[in-house]
Amino acid sequence: MSSLRPIASELLYGHADQCPFGLCDGSGFRYEVETNTAYDCRCRAQRVALAKARSLSAVIPRRYRDVAFDRPPVTEIDLPIVAATRRFADTIGEKLDAGRGLWFMGPVGTGKTTLAMLVSKAALKTGRSVAIYSLPRLLNEIRDTHRAERSHVELLDRLTAVDLLHVDDVGAERTTDWVLEELYSIVNARYEDQRSMVITTNILDREALCGQITERTVSRLTEMCDELPLLGHDHRMDLRVG
Ligand SMILES: Nc1ncnc2c1ncn2[C@@H]1O[C@H](COP(=O)(O)OP(=O)(O)OP(=O)(O)O)[C@@H](O)[C@H]1O
Ligand SMILES: [Mg+2]
Ligand SMILES: [Zn+2]
Repeated sequence: MSSLRPIASELLYGHADQCPFGLCDGSGFRYEVETNTAYDCRCRAQRVALAKARSLSAVIPRRYRDVAFDRPPVTEIDLPIVAATRRFADTIGEKLDAGRGLWFMGPVGTGKTTLAMLVSKAALKTGRSVAIYSLPRLLNEIRDTHRAERSHVELLDRLTAVDLLHVDDVGAERTTDWVLEELYSIVNARYEDQRSMVITTNILDREALCGQITERTVSRLTEMCDELPLLGHDHRMDLRVG
């Protein structure tokens, strides 16, 4: 079990009782003795965001845990797309602060999830809060909370507060009005808050995607994310032939 939560737990929570700026006692508050007042430490906003993200999934799946820019399969993926991903990852702090995201689109097995995981890894490495879900899994979690009104609201609140929301396989889900509405409310909440998203879709054609996840969701994602199209064939088949 512990091997399943490596990056998130070590990087995000390992030193939770220390102030990253060396200013407070780790509580997130500073105290002025003369006037007997407490005020927020510089680390407090980060603490609040991390606490909210704590119950979300920030786990890089095993298959993608060791992905790196300098080795296969990433070195075999379309160069300009990898370069754009790398530029984004190298300036992840700025991008997250500006609410900028990436949208990997392309056919099955072209490296979309691989590249998206590199972005999430970069964010986690700089101590940012990240939630990583495939859309079907995210919807399952939402469904599970639905019985209790309060936790449903809380989950949406957390999904909005996290620095980076990474949603894999958007558009792969069989759509129902409920699915479309939930996806829209997450995307819209992050859009309004100018919070970054990284998403992957199998659908390249905009019209088809609008048909699958609605135009208003696609429109917001388009504004939030730089689009990175991955073309080519299914590289999972290479593994089988080779
Ligand atoms: N350009 C490439 N060259 C060689 N191998 C690749 C390339 N792209 C992906 N791979 C390999 O192919 C497999 C699929 O990669 P990945 O999961 O990133 O694809 P994907 O685009 O997310 O696919 P899907 O749409 O099915 O989710 C992995 O084993 C990966 O290492
Ligand atoms: Mg994928
Ligand atoms: Zn502090």
